[in-house]
Amino acid sequence: MAHTLTAERPEHAAAIERVLSRAFGPGRYAKTSERVRERGAILEPALTRVALNDAREIVGVCRIWRAEAGAEIYFLGPLAVDPSEQAAGLGATLVRDCVAACRSSAGGGIILVGAERFFRPFGFSIVPSGRVSLPGPVDPARFLWLELRPGGLDKIHGELAAPER
Ligand SMILES: CC(C)(COP(=O)(O)OP(=O)(O)OC[C@H]1O[C@@H](n2cnc3c(N)ncnc32)[C@H](O)[C@@H]1OP(=O)(O)O)[C@@H](O)C(=O)NCCC(=O)NCCS
Repeated sequence: MAHTLTAERPEHAAAIERVLSRAFGPGRYAKTSERVRERGAILEPALTRVALNDAREIVGVCRIWRAEAGAEIYFLGPLAVDPSEQAAGLGATLVRDCVAACRSSAGGGIILVGAERFFRPFGFSIVPSGRVSLPGPVDPARFLWLELRPGGLDKIHGELAAPER
């Protein structure tokens, strides 16, 4: 099925929630990534991507947030594709588009919690031990980042928190 990707708009909110709850099921709010968002990371709707199917229904989302750990860094997630449309390449397309949008907006890097096998093809690698922490437990093998321009991650260290402005 063909999909259209667009930036997030306010009227997408309910449909995005539906996709997230169908894709993740219960337990979604227990994730450490949710703590980062609760603590004031700022949603970047223009860098976030939603995927619409032929019927103009939202079937996928990849959100981008502005956060800070020593310097500003984008925080990616949640990434979700509706179960009815998974395993057809849409998750990868959403991530690729978000990474391109973040790069165009002159960001230094992107950080996330996710499966390395899934994110490695886009250039993500494991955050070196002790460099960045999250407000809760995280499996170090799933804590990943991507440099968007040379030196873009050099100043990143400490706890991932809300941006100062
Ligand atoms: C993870 C998710 C977004 C992937 O979307 P998708 O459209 O099914 O993924 P794609 O079809 O683009 O798959 C791309 C590749 O990633 C692999 N992949 C998919 N889900 C994966 C996972 N959870 N872990 C590791 N690899 C995964 C696929 O096998 C595929 O590899 P291939 O190209 O070598 O076959 C989707 O399965 C989903 O919403 N899952 C539930 C929510 C979730 O776990 N989100 C991720 C949090 S980091």
